[in-house]
Formats: sequence, C-alpha cells, structure tokens
Amino acid sequence: MKNGTCWVDEEGNFIQAHGGVIIQVEDTYYWYGENKDAETQGNRVPFLGFSCYSSKNMRSWHNEGVVLRAVEDDLEHELSTNKVGERPKVVYNQKTKKFVMWFHLDDATYHYARIGVAVADAPAGPFEYQGSLQPSSKHKDSRDMTLYQDEDDAVYLICSTDWNATTLICQLNEEYTGLTGEFKLAFIEQFREAPVVIKENGLYYMFGSGCTGWNPNAMLYGSAKEVTGSWLLIDNPCTGSDYRKTFHGQTSNTFKFNGQWYIMLDHWDKDDLRMSGYSFLPVRFNGNEVEIPWTEEFLGV
Ligand code: DGJ
Repeated sequence: MKNGTCWVDEEGNFIQAHGGVIIQVEDTYYWYGENKDAETQGNRVPFLGFSCYSSKNMRSWHNEGVVLRAVEDDLEHELSTNKVGERPKVVYNQKTKKFVMWFHLDDATYHYARIGVAVADAPAGPFEYQGSLQPSSKHKDSRDMTLYQDEDDAVYLICSTDWNATTLICQLNEEYTGLTGEFKLAFIEQFREAPVVIKENGLYYMFGSGCTGWNPNAMLYGSAKEVTGSWLLIDNPCTGSDYRKTFHGQTSNTFKFNGQWYIMLDHWDKDDLRMSGYSFLPVRFNGNEVEIPWTEEFLGV
C-alpha cells in the first residue's frame, strides 16, 4: 500500500472508502468510508452511500459492499443521490450490541449541515437509517465530524460548527443514537475541519485540517486533559517535504495497529474524486510532542 496513491481491494478494484474510519471487531478490521465511484460533477459526486471493507491483516481488503445505500427514487429523501454524505464514523455499543454510524449529511450547497445516524446488528451492516440531527439549538450546523470513543465507552461527537469557525464537542447518549445536549466549544474561530482524536500518555490529542475545500493545507494538532476540557492549539505535527500541505492529504481518522498509532489521510483528486488516494502514516509521541513523518508505504501485518 503505497501512501498517497489509490489502493485496490483483493479483487483489484479501487477501494472506495474516503473520509473513512477503521474499527477492530475481534480479529477483523472494518474500514468504512464514502463510496465516490461516480463521475465528479462540479465539486461533488452524487451520493451513493457508504462502503465497508474488511481485513485480517490491514493489507488485503475484502469488499463487504455498500452498507448504507443512497435512496435512488425519491429526491426529497435525506439520503437521495442529490445529497452529500461524508465522513462516516462507526462505534460499537456494548450495551445495545449495535454498530452505530454517524456521518455528515448535507445538500449539494453544504447549507443543510446536519448529522445522519444509522444502526446495524453486524459490522458489515446493513445499516438502517434513523434520521438526522443538529449538534445544538444554538450551534445548529455540523459539517466535518468524527466520533471519539473513550476508554470508559463514553462517545463524543466532534464537529465543525458556526460555518466551520469553531469545533463543537458533545457526548452521545447511552444508546449512541442521540446527544446528551451539553456541549463544549474548542478552537473558537480557528476554522478547523476534519477532526480526529487520539488519547496517549493520559492526554487527548486532536488533529485536523484548515478549511480549503478539497485543496490541502496545514495539519495542526492541539491537546486537552479532558475531551470536553480546554483545548490548546499547539503546532503542525507533520515533518519533511510538503509538511505544510499535509503531504497533499487531509485527516480522516486514526487507528492503533501492532501497538503503533496511525493517522489516515485522504488525498483528494478534486477533478475525479473517486480516484482520491489514501495514506496511513505513523503518529510518533515524544513526551507531549507529536510528529507525523511521511513514509512511502503502509505494510500491514
Ligand atoms: C473539506 C472537507 O473536509 C471534505 O470532507 C469535504 O466536505 C470538502 N471540504 C468539500 O469541499
């Protein structure tokens, strides 16, 4: 898996799992993401749904299919092909035994700015759509988002709000299908997108991009003692050539593999979004400092 390029599944087809997330269920990894396998029209592809791929070794990926499908025959439906669905994130709820997916749901102009929720009994779906919500009555819009599952199984929504000016953090309810209502604002008026979180050495680290559409910009990270605590913006963790453009990528999520943290990047091809590539780069912690160097390849097991 050569970083920065398009990757193929075990059948040789390009992996369509953009803006994705990887979770581990027993000995299997599941990679969910945007299926962008259609012609780019303007700045988007029609919404097709979210794909899932599975792997035992993080190198050979089996296509589990589209696990939440767009609705093709009803243009008024929230999941119709004329909508935008981005950055699906999936968490497992130990109590309800359900897999719960949250994602950025929007219209083609990015004015709808809501969060979609879907639920499944098994990791490879099918996911059943539950409806959409907003992060709060005061900060109504939610665009780029992630879910962070803490060690105590509390799950937090982290999303860009106020037209991407500010990051909002809110805990999910016990079923993970709604929000508790109390929220914390972070990085106020710092215009951050594509948030992802890692906990290491007792501190929470949030990584993300700036706001330049499909064009790359500088990754920045911040840290906090609590997920809903005070977040301090620190620095750009990337090192090496093109570090100020995040190696021409943008954060999508993080995962731990063989004891090592990795950050997942999308390398958007804005003229042909389905041909956007991926990178899995190591995240190195040195005390409270973080470094993300470019590596040519992700090897898996
Ligand atoms: C940047 C976001 O991070 C992407 O997910 C997508 O929404 C693009 N903007 C659209 O321009």
